[in-house]
Amino acid sequence: MPDSAEQAVRYFRRHQQLYGDQLILGEPLESSEVSGDKKAVVDRPVTLAEYEEEICHCQKCPLGATRTKFVFGVGSPAADLVFVGEAPGFEEDRQGEPFVGRAGKLLDKILAAIELTRQDVYICNILKCRPPDNRDPLAAEVEQCLPHLKEQFRIIQPKLIVALGRVAAKTLLGVEDSLKHMRQQVYTYEGVEMRVTYHTAALLRNPRLKAPAWEDFQTIRDRYRELAGLPPWQKPEGPASAG
Ligand code: URA
Repeated sequence: MPDSAEQAVRYFRRHQQLYGDQLILGEPLESSEVSGDKKAVVDRPVTLAEYEEEICHCQKCPLGATRTKFVFGVGSPAADLVFVGEAPGFEEDRQGEPFVGRAGKLLDKILAAIELTRQDVYICNILKCRPPDNRDPLAAEVEQCLPHLKEQFRIIQPKLIVALGRVAAKTLLGVEDSLKHMRQQVYTYEGVEMRVTYHTAALLRNPRLKAPAWEDFQTIRDRYRELAGLPPWQKPEGPASAG
């Protein structure tokens, strides 16, 4: 989306947060003129960049002291499709960007296969800082970090959330279920449609999961296109047959 279109989308989302569906033309109200709940909305960060600036020095849990870089997220701030992984690993901690190691390279390839890039979507994690030795996130870390993710969702307003792997899925859904079962369900998270598929690291460990994961990603592609108002995906035509 061109910058100006993105700005317009953000402006109207912001307008809707403040004034609901009523279109108010003319000078916007100063934040001091807005009372009650609406004032609270005015004081919250408007853009992802502002929010990143606000939280990037977070020390709410001990991972703040051991991280190299805070891994906020990457992609389009107006993405309709958001992928949520578990937590930064070694490379992500080093570079400050999610999914840049081996699992990330595979995610890029899968996105390319459904004609998307990491700039078309948004990619982030349950935790913004790397747990030592890549251990699973602790409940106390999740408790401190989950509000950051919810705020990201509030700003982005995606149409479809995809949890990558069991940790992301069970954290968001609050259920202990098998991934095999969860990937066949359609959930709602904070009012947004949510689906679950395998983590790309699991696909690297167990290539037999690649076929079911590919089914999931085709479903994700089709549903994303539907929700985003894009024409249904069509298989690209091969070269015209000679003669
Ligand atoms: N695994 C994740 O869950 N997230 C990353 O960013 C990288 C690997």
